[in-house]
Amino acid sequence: MKFEILASCPTTRARVARMTLNHGPTLLPTFMPVATQAALKGLTPQQTEALGVTLILNNTYHLNLRPGIKILDQAGGAHKFQGWRRNLLTDSGGFQLVSLSQFTQITEEGALFSSPYDGKPTMLTPEESIAIQHSIGADIIMQLDDVVSSLTTGPRVEEAMWRSIRWLDRCIKYHESKGRQDTQELFAIVQGGLDPKLREICVREMINRKENVGGYAVGGLSGGEAKDVFWKMISICAEKLPVDRPRYAMGIGFAEGTKLLDLLVCVALGIDMADCVFPTRTARFGVALTFRGPLNLRLKHHTTSLDTIEEDCPCPTCSSGTSRAILHHLVTVETAGAHALTQHNVVFQARLMGGAREAIFAGTFPAYLRSFFANYFGETG
Ligand code: GUN
Ligand code: ZN
Repeated sequence: MKFEILASCPTTRARVARMTLNHGPTLLPTFMPVATQAALKGLTPQQTEALGVTLILNNTYHLNLRPGIKILDQAGGAHKFQGWRRNLLTDSGGFQLVSLSQFTQITEEGALFSSPYDGKPTMLTPEESIAIQHSIGADIIMQLDDVVSSLTTGPRVEEAMWRSIRWLDRCIKYHESKGRQDTQELFAIVQGGLDPKLREICVREMINRKENVGGYAVGGLSGGEAKDVFWKMISICAEKLPVDRPRYAMGIGFAEGTKLLDLLVCVALGIDMADCVFPTRTARFGVALTFRGPLNLRLKHHTTSLDTIEEDCPCPTCSSGTSRAILHHLVTVETAGAHALTQHNVVFQARLMGGAREAIFAGTFPAYLRSFFANYFGETG
């Protein structure tokens, strides 16, 4: 992996970087659209590529269940399986196990859970998680970590932090024993709950493994903690993590109420990557994102509007002149409405980040933030 910093904001910790992975370059900061079951909901991989997206997120847990490792190995990995030619990131699966199964038991060996399908006890070890991610063949793979809810307190938080460090060592050892370091970048995940001291210890330990990891994620957040605590944890980690490695805030787009605000604040705090289901999910509910705030196309008053969603938007929906009136009709009766809005929202997200990168280059990032928020919250549809 090549990671080149191209510009840094003099007042915040925001920076622009080019990360070159096995399937080409991706400019950072970026929001990664989430394609849970291979493709993004509402778009084909070819459409996603045509929109200029260069990095998406797949879910190891779901790919392991369907299509399963055997088919992925036969296909030569998830890129070929789904027809996706750009970069791909997979999570280790442990987080989904914990969030989806009531019966997960964490042992030093791994996460023991009962299969959601047949109830059979199954163990996911760090080695096995990496083996599955090798079959998937993602360009960025995540370590298996011991995740506790951000609302958990007491000794369990520290235990999970130290176990995540030990599991990182097992992931590194397995990954390197298979000689995959040159094509798949392993990322470490900082844990430590809402305790600044634990976060600092974890960052320090993981920096000691810097030569063996491609980048760092901040995990264990967005579980319902207060916003100021969330930002403080991101800030502590991003400040201490190595400048010359990408930094990824995990899953923040999944939390209830996470909006573009949180994502841009993370960028200002030094985060380079975040995944976000918000733009694609909200599209399926008939909401288009615009620089003047969200536009709910299900509302009746759009029936007579011949405007496009947003002037000057280069997305296929707006640039073809699709009116709000027909979109109102489509989102209320047809799935074509969800396709049209998903394309617009993915492009909106890319423009928001592209604008941030340009502003960082120009030395005007704080002004960009101010004007974005003034416009976004000033008016709604
Ligand atoms: N997704 C959201 N948060 C986390 C986390 O802490 N660990 C992992 N592996 N995935 C996540
Ligand atoms: Zn558009």
